[in-house]
Amino acid sequence: MELIERLERIERESRARLATLDDPAALEQWRLDVLGRKGHLAEAMKGLATLPASDRPMVGERANAAKLGLEAAFGSRLREASATARARELEGERIDVTLPGRAPTKGSLHPVTMIRREVEQAFARLGFTSVEGPEVEWDHYNFTLLNIPPDHPARDTQDSFYIQGGTGELGEMLLRTQTSPVQVRTMLAHQPPIRIIAPGRTYRNEATDASHEAMFTQVEGLCVDKGVTLADLRGTLTVVARALFGPQSEIRFRCGYFPFVEPGAEIDMTCHMCNGDGCRVCKRTGWIELGGAGMVHPKVLANAGIDPDVYSGWAFGCGLERFAMLRYGIEDIRLFYDNDIRFLRQFA
Ligand code: DAH
Repeated sequence: MELIERLERIERESRARLATLDDPAALEQWRLDVLGRKGHLAEAMKGLATLPASDRPMVGERANAAKLGLEAAFGSRLREASATARARELEGERIDVTLPGRAPTKGSLHPVTMIRREVEQAFARLGFTSVEGPEVEWDHYNFTLLNIPPDHPARDTQDSFYIQGGTGELGEMLLRTQTSPVQVRTMLAHQPPIRIIAPGRTYRNEATDASHEAMFTQVEGLCVDKGVTLADLRGTLTVVARALFGPQSEIRFRCGYFPFVEPGAEIDMTCHMCNGDGCRVCKRTGWIELGGAGMVHPKVLANAGIDPDVYSGWAFGCGLERFAMLRYGIEDIRLFYDNDIRFLRQFA
């Protein structure tokens, strides 16, 4: 029978063609060509009408079986093809977990931050709290309450950065030239006993060179209580110098003048490089200058609401870059703020 033969041929040829296909578009085309409404099977079935009625059920059944068989073949081919495609995709995305990784670039603490933390830890062990004050300050706190007279050179615009238009009840606004105003702010806010250090940025309008920067960091110290003396200051600074620069460190005071202390002193530490014998770092003197200090001036205590007849106190102020320069052998203060990665990396 011609129609049966035609069905068989369609089945055979379609299966053969199906076996060669694996891309989704080609498979869909096959489905339209073979099983679609105008496909080979549908075309063949048109011939059913021309058959004698007695043959139709048998041929119809045969055609149906062919259709079901091809549909099943198509379904399994489609599943196979998508499994192969997925496998190929996974193979492409494969990662070799045994390859060495790319090391992440890691930052590090700035040398001044490292020194600041060491100083804070050394003072914390002696019961000192670390506090902060504003970098934009009123001249009232930066100068007036610290007993710095109106004609003092530090007040000149040549030496200090004033904020344009920053005038108020407390005088003029400026970038603080020292951390000493934090002393005053602390005393105004708290009655003794007081034991604080105040590290932070300070600013001076000056030409920069290897030992001067317009922005630098100081640490202030303040201790106020009944019966506090210069001996306590010396003891405290000795403990801290030894924590930072080694157990052989000694502290000495030289007479110095700062309006907010009386008596005032310059603080020296034995040179940690030569142990006091004299070398290039200490300019052959055996001593290194650390900063200023003294007994808080009675006027300053009174200005801050503390009775100088009952309490006494000491204070000091040092440059933190200087500590870092001594510790790490850095010869130019400007390196700290150049942001040269080659310099900073050395502290990682
Ligand atoms: N503020 C001073 C300066 O910047 C340093 C200083 C000297 C601080 C004596 C003090 C002090 O607390 O008692 O030069």
